[in-house]
Amino acid sequence: MSRLRPSSRRLLWCGGAAAAAGIFPKCPHHHHVLGRRLLSSAAAAAAAARRLLDPAPLSPDPIRVPPPRPLGGALGTLRRLHTLPEQVSGAGLGGGDKTFETICIHGVGARPLVVENVAAASGALEDDEEEEARVRVRESEVGEEGAVTLTEEEAKVKEGSGRDAILDGSEVESEARREKEESATEKEAWWLLNRAVVSYCGSPIGTVAANDPGTVNQMLNYDQVFIRDFVPSAIAFLLKGEGEIVRNFLLHTLQLQSWEKTVDCYSPGQGLMPASFKVRTVPLDGSNEAFEEVLDPDFGESAIGRVAPVDSGLWWIILLRAYGRITGDYALQERVDVQTGIKLILNLCLSDGFDMFPSLLVTDGSCMIDRRMGIHGHPLEIQALYYSALRCSREMISINDGSKNLVRAINNRLSALSFHIREYYWVDMKKINEIYRYKTEEYSHDAINKFNIYPEQIPSWLVDWIPEKGGYLIGNLQPAHMDFRFFSLGNLWAIVSSLATERQAKGILNLIEAKWDDLVANMPLKICYPALEYEEWRIITGSDPKNTPWSYHNGGSWPTLLWQLTLACIKMGRHDLAERAVSLAEKRLSNDKWPEYYDTRSGRFIGKQSRLYQTWTIAGFLTSKMLLENPEMASILTCDEDLELLEGCACCLSKSARIKCSRLAARSQVLV
Ligand code: GLC
Repeated sequence: MSRLRPSSRRLLWCGGAAAAAGIFPKCPHHHHVLGRRLLSSAAAAAAAARRLLDPAPLSPDPIRVPPPRPLGGALGTLRRLHTLPEQVSGAGLGGGDKTFETICIHGVGARPLVVENVAAASGALEDDEEEEARVRVRESEVGEEGAVTLTEEEAKVKEGSGRDAILDGSEVESEARREKEESATEKEAWWLLNRAVVSYCGSPIGTVAANDPGTVNQMLNYDQVFIRDFVPSAIAFLLKGEGEIVRNFLLHTLQLQSWEKTVDCYSPGQGLMPASFKVRTVPLDGSNEAFEEVLDPDFGESAIGRVAPVDSGLWWIILLRAYGRITGDYALQERVDVQTGIKLILNLCLSDGFDMFPSLLVTDGSCMIDRRMGIHGHPLEIQALYYSALRCSREMISINDGSKNLVRAINNRLSALSFHIREYYWVDMKKINEIYRYKTEEYSHDAINKFNIYPEQIPSWLVDWIPEKGGYLIGNLQPAHMDFRFFSLGNLWAIVSSLATERQAKGILNLIEAKWDDLVANMPLKICYPALEYEEWRIITGSDPKNTPWSYHNGGSWPTLLWQLTLACIKMGRHDLAERAVSLAEKRLSNDKWPEYYDTRSGRFIGKQSRLYQTWTIAGFLTSKMLLENPEMASILTCDEDLELLEGCACCLSKSARIKCSRLAARSQVLV
């Protein structure tokens, strides 16, 4: 049995002041919890929620908040899932850590990138395209299997009136201008993305993973807001100038982080962010008249395989920085509770263990590939997101006496991690030839084959596949084990975050171009290449019928990866590649009803069990389009090379390998 409950002991005492001061976004329904009447009108609720979302100054007087009550009646079997934003503490790092309560100074000089509305320029309305889009949406609404039925409210939103109602005059104007420029597919995508928005107490808080009318009875958890899935939605909204949903998402997921969670009788670390959450409406104390909305998170204790989503916290940090950079609302990241949230995530990631490597040791399925695929250990995807999150945190952490050690730990880890990945994960023709000639069983400090890799491990497909020009970062590295599969997300995010050197980053994009037919073909982009087949599939996936060769996580093609490809291409000045991929996707996605993934070697078929109207497919497409139109916006997510980090690493190396400590040494040692 798994059980979740808000960490009331800690929160009760430390969160009172913050709650009273309105630091946390409050659900108006929680007034009821505090003894007031439930707000009846939706408008009043929304207004109250908006008001309460405005951060107010800290109150010096702690005020006690009642502890969460167990849900009674029919809900007896439900976990205690009150969200109780008012109980979240900003200062609760155990033993009186007050450092986060002091004034914040910005780390790296990050300036807001002010968003101009995406399509400020004028453009003629293409009537026929618009009509085509309408017809397509209409067709999908009626008469087909899995027909989309619109509620009155949805119909209004589709016609534009619903959304306009929440925009003020000037926004409506620029909205109208933008709409003139959007293609029919983009319009449809925006409509679908808005339809996927989930509200909590009258305010938008995230987007559901999928809205597939064909699977209403088998939603599994696709009706939830996934942290990783929301990122492209968030970027799309931010690029469009809509920050509220992202701000709400960041603050509410932050509250979930503080919950005490147990799987059977074990509690994982406190900084863990959930994989997903659901907004549930539950009767108040068994009453049939009063209801409240609560957030019900899943930290992996209900997930298939019971895996902890290591990537969620990393994505949260990356999104927090992007939000600040694009909106200029740095006050959010400077808040005490937000600083604490960052610190809790970092505590989990930076804690000492038995590991010999600076990379993060995780179980199988702890990221986008959330089921067994042989990626336990040190998978590239996690390392790249980890590096990125560390870089983002360093920018956001308030510098003061109490955070100095943390910043030092971040810098040390960044140096070591970048050296480790650049040096040991990188393969190209030359490196594979070196491995091919490796001697084994070397026992010494100066071993060339440090991880004791047996050359027989080089898979036969790779010998012919690796192009003359270019290379990539392998999927995983363990003692006597190199996973030579190409994993797209890790490689792309290594480019975006500057985990890879510039030469490596160019090399990865060259490889994608050279191996276009294998990695892109009919739909960008293969999640990994190649697929596990035969005995390997049986042993490594555990005969997983969902991950059969060239399907789903096992070599399937995921359109959501398009936005990350676009981002990496923009960073490296390869817009041409991104445009090619986007135009391929644009030809199919709408007709195919925005699938989650595609199957077969060349990505020709809609995936066997693929959801339709998958939100991150839709958002990934929109984000890619907008980034290509405004490439300078890519910098809300990218990081540049940091030579100081390299210097730090060269100095460390000099202690163990007698290498001179200097910037020159850094360049020659660490810049491959
Ligand atoms: C699948 C994917 C995972 C995604 C989830 C919701 O489980 O593997 O990455 O977050 O669906 O879309």
